[in-house]
Amino acid sequence: MKNRINELLEEVNRMAAANNEELEALRIKYLSKKGLISELFNDFRNVPNEEKRVVGQLLNELKNKTQDKISELKEAFANAAGSEQKTDLTRSAEPFKLGTRHPLSLTKNEIIDIFSRIGFTIAEGPEIEDDWHVFGALNFPPEHPARDMQDTFFIEQDPDILLRTHTSSVQSHVMTTQKPPIRMLFPGRVYRNEAISYRAHCFFHQIEGLYIDKNVSFADLKQALLYFAKEMFGEHTKIRLRPSYFPFTEPSAEMDISCNICGGEGCPFCKHTGWVEILGCGMVDPNVLENCGIDSSVYSGYAFGMGVERITNLKYQVKDLRMFSENDVRFLQQFESAY
Ligand code: DAH
Repeated sequence: MKNRINELLEEVNRMAAANNEELEALRIKYLSKKGLISELFNDFRNVPNEEKRVVGQLLNELKNKTQDKISELKEAFANAAGSEQKTDLTRSAEPFKLGTRHPLSLTKNEIIDIFSRIGFTIAEGPEIEDDWHVFGALNFPPEHPARDMQDTFFIEQDPDILLRTHTSSVQSHVMTTQKPPIRMLFPGRVYRNEAISYRAHCFFHQIEGLYIDKNVSFADLKQALLYFAKEMFGEHTKIRLRPSYFPFTEPSAEMDISCNICGGEGCPFCKHTGWVEILGCGMVDPNVLENCGIDSSVYSGYAFGMGVERITNLKYQVKDLRMFSENDVRFLQQFESAY
C-alpha cells in the first residue's frame, strides 16, 4: 500500500495538463468516487492496524497534494485565459473615421446659430399642408399663380391638400397658436413642380423668420438682416433692399448682398453686377395678422425667407443643385466642419 501511495505521489508531482479538458480527466482519474485515490481509501480497511496511522497520514497527504495540484493547474489556465483578453493600454488609439455633415445642414445650422444669438427660437411645421396655411392665411388671392398645378404639387386631386411650396406656411401655424411676442425661425423642406436641372429642383430647403411684437419697424428688419449678412458672409459684406412684392408682406423687399465671390467687383456669379440676391422679406401684412387672430392695431412684425441651397451655393460655390441630393460621398466628404 505504501509503495502504491508513493508511486501516485510521484505521478501527482509530475502532473501536467494542456487544457481544461485534460485537467478534468485527471481529476476524474484520481479524485472521483471511483478514482485511484478513492480506491486506496477503500483498501485502507485491509491495512494492518499497526500501520494504519502512518499509511493513513500518507494517504491524506496524497489526497491533499492531488487536490492542490489540480487547483493550481486550474488557476494557471484561468490566468492564461485572462491575459489573452488584456489589451495593451499604451497603444495609440485607432483614428476613428467621422462622417461629415451635409452641406445644407451646415448652412442651416449656421443660420440658426446666427439668429439664435439675437433671440430667435425654432419651430417646424408639416410638409403636407392645406391650402389655408400655405396660401389662404398668407393673403394669396384665389387666382394667384402659385395655386396653379404647374407650380404646386397637390395630393390625390384634392385641391385642398398639397405639399408646401414655402416655409412661410409655418407662420400661419405659429400665429394662430401662439401669442406675440413671437421671434422664430422655421427651417424646412419645400416642394415645387419644377423640372430638375442644375439650377432648379422639385424640392429644396428654406428658412423663414418671423418677428411679431408691438412697434416692430422696417428698421428692425433691416438691422437684423444686416447683422445676419455680416455674420454669415463676413464683416465687409454690404446689403441692399430692393422693393418687391409678396402677398403676405407690405411693404416687401428682396435683399441682395455684395457678391462674396468677387467682393463686389463683378464676376460671372453675380452676372457682373457686384450683387447677389439672397432673400425675400417685408413687414407682415396686417391682413395676415388678422387672418391668424392677431390684432394688427396693436402688433406689427417682419418676416423673411431664404433658400438654404442658395446660401450654401454662395458659401461653398456649389455649381449644380443636384449634387445636394445625389449622395455622392466624394462631394459630401469635402464638408468637414464644426457645425
Ligand atoms: N415665401 C417666399 C418664397 O418662397 C419667401 C419670402 C419672401 C418669405 C418674403 C417671407 C417674406 O417671409 O417676407 O419665395
